[in-house]
Amino acid sequence: MSVGKVRPSVAALAAYRPGKGTKQAEAEHGIEDAIKLASNENPYDPVPAVLEAVTAASAGVNRYADHRALELRQTLASWLGVEAEQVAVGCGSVGLIQQLCLTYVDPGDEVVYPWISFEAYPVCVKMMGGIGVCPPLVNHAFDMDAVAAAVTNKTKLVFLATPNNPTGTAISTSQIATLVDSIPDDVMVVVDEAYREFCDPKFGDPVQDLVSKYPNVVVTRTFSKAYGLAGLRVGYAVAHPDVVAEIDKILLPFAVNAAAQAGALAALSSLDQIQVKVDALLAERTRIVSTLTTAGWDLPDAQANFIYLPLGERTAQVGLELEKRGIVIRPFPGEGIRVTVGTPAENDRFLTNLAEIAQPSDQVA
Ligand SMILES: Cc1ncc(COP(=O)(O)O)c(C=O)c1O
Repeated sequence: MSVGKVRPSVAALAAYRPGKGTKQAEAEHGIEDAIKLASNENPYDPVPAVLEAVTAASAGVNRYADHRALELRQTLASWLGVEAEQVAVGCGSVGLIQQLCLTYVDPGDEVVYPWISFEAYPVCVKMMGGIGVCPPLVNHAFDMDAVAAAVTNKTKLVFLATPNNPTGTAISTSQIATLVDSIPDDVMVVVDEAYREFCDPKFGDPVQDLVSKYPNVVVTRTFSKAYGLAGLRVGYAVAHPDVVAEIDKILLPFAVNAAAQAGALAALSSLDQIQVKVDALLAERTRIVSTLTTAGWDLPDAQANFIYLPLGERTAQVGLELEKRGIVIRPFPGEGIRVTVGTPAENDRFLTNLAEIAQPSDQVA
């Protein structure tokens, strides 16, 4: 039953599913000491400058923050070597993804995103009455020819997560340029770089390589992952000034709150300390991948702060078994499990338990 005249596109929607928290898993299985490797968060505490800035900002929460977050935009712009008018901020990068759908998608319009990918895309597209067109992955990576072929005269947006969530595979800026060259220039191509800081630089920098050349390319990034500010909700987009002006119109008033703005600015002034944590996570990712590869697993190329095990029909069972042992990962039923890189102790616990639960022969192509 629904109360009031709910829009059909919302009534038909499946809500976004966040990763399960440790408390819920502990209550469900009657266990203690669960660890969360389910949401691709940074397991390390925020750097001291962030904590100080957030604390200081909290003293002023009787006032609204700067709606446009001008200081943050300007700081990002000079760091990235672009104009401040080319930078938008949002309530996490998912806020910007939603704003892009609000800006470009009318009912019946098509949005292309390879699938399997970030689970917020279908929610944001369908809430507008848009139609998701989803070329399948090949070997757990994007098939860029299929993406190009999926674009029609109804296509308004293309979402490309690189590295992709949940498979972890990346595409290069030259692959993206080839796509953009082959489709009409009024189709917006959104390059979602939520995990950019964990990705091999050989894939290129879409802000430097693409944004100035192609007005229809938008790059979204976030402070949630590498910078460890997931709970503050702040992301940014880099695009042509006209695109920024349009998506700014529908930024929810004060969506990027004062603590988020202060925390993001402090993070940008502490990049060396943040890089130490990113390097530690990258070293752990290498260790996890080499342990599993030595054991016989053949994983998709892991370019983000997680690994992906394509377990097909065994996914739900392996996910549940790990959860009962207090290791909360993210299962994608029928597809595979995504496991966030945690602290060394957390990763050891995952590896030891996985070896008892699943074998490389469980993996599907
Ligand atoms: C591919 C991708 N894009 C965007 C996001 C959104 O992150 P946030 O809204 O915290 O910036 C996520 C989060 O998991 C993601 O995996």
